[in-house]
Amino acid sequence: MSEERRPESPSPPPSPFKGEGAEEGNASFVGEGARKGHVSFKGDGAAKEQEHIALVRERLAAAKNVMAITGAGISAESGVPTFRDDKGLWQKFNPLDYATREAFRRDPVKVWKWYDERRVNMAQAKPNAAHQALAAMAQPGRRVFIVTQNVDDLHEQAGSKEVVHIHGSLWRIRCERDGTVLENREVPLSELPPLCMCGETMRPDIVWFGEDLPWQPVEQIRHYFLEGPIDLCLVVGTEASFGYILQWALQARESGAMVVDVNPRDTGLGSIVDVHLRGKAGEVLPELL
Ligand code: OAD
Repeated sequence: MSEERRPESPSPPPSPFKGEGAEEGNASFVGEGARKGHVSFKGDGAAKEQEHIALVRERLAAAKNVMAITGAGISAESGVPTFRDDKGLWQKFNPLDYATREAFRRDPVKVWKWYDERRVNMAQAKPNAAHQALAAMAQPGRRVFIVTQNVDDLHEQAGSKEVVHIHGSLWRIRCERDGTVLENREVPLSELPPLCMCGETMRPDIVWFGEDLPWQPVEQIRHYFLEGPIDLCLVVGTEASFGYILQWALQARESGAMVVDVNPRDTGLGSIVDVHLRGKAGEVLPELL
């Protein structure tokens, strides 16, 4: 693949959810994996799996700086539904009816009922072995920086300290009129929709389709990349449907990281990946410790 087809600038990331266009954009990243002497260990079959685990374990043991990019799959074993799997939320619910500003304006109660149910379910969820393994990877002399697309707080509950939420939080509500953002953990909500002191209907503080990523987490990620080389990038439980996920994984790779995809199936990461550990996050990640 020619240099011209590489993304021009790794940051700031492009607009996120707009039309989920990233799915089309994936193609420009595929096929670049062989650059810079990275070795691909994907798709070699079950016999190679232990060899791959050993390779990543060795890399982790020597790593001073680990980036983890996580998605819905890491919370699946905690009983939190994913989005695009066979039983995922977007199979049952049309995101245009629940995850856009237009849907919210049309029917805030309908949208809030859906989020309220997810909050009730989330309130029962506990971190699983994958969250715990990532938390345990952070040790004196080794930084672990987590970028999550998840709106749960299971990484924090597991004890991870550096967690950047790029899609917001189920536990925050926001007023678009006066900018108030509140932590709110009431389940179920006693008032639907919740109202701001200013009288406006508050919304979930979650990034919806067609909206930009919040600037603060994007800045944190930009600074992280400026802070030094990355040894290992674990991409865990995400379809990698969005261009910025591919971009960050690629940027980690260009900073020197071995990029490892932890997922039972192939994802949009294509040949950005050096090693694909094919399995459930809760089984694979503890094996790396
Ligand atoms: P998806 O539902 O698109 O993808 C989940 C991924 O997790 C799939 O690749 C599965 O194969 C994988 N998976 C399932 N179980 C797993 C397990 N036990 N261990 C490891 N992997 C497993 O979820 P995301 O990629 O996170 O946005 O989706 C990104 C965003 O799209 C979400 O944050 C959400 C959605 O629209 C918002 O709602 C703001």
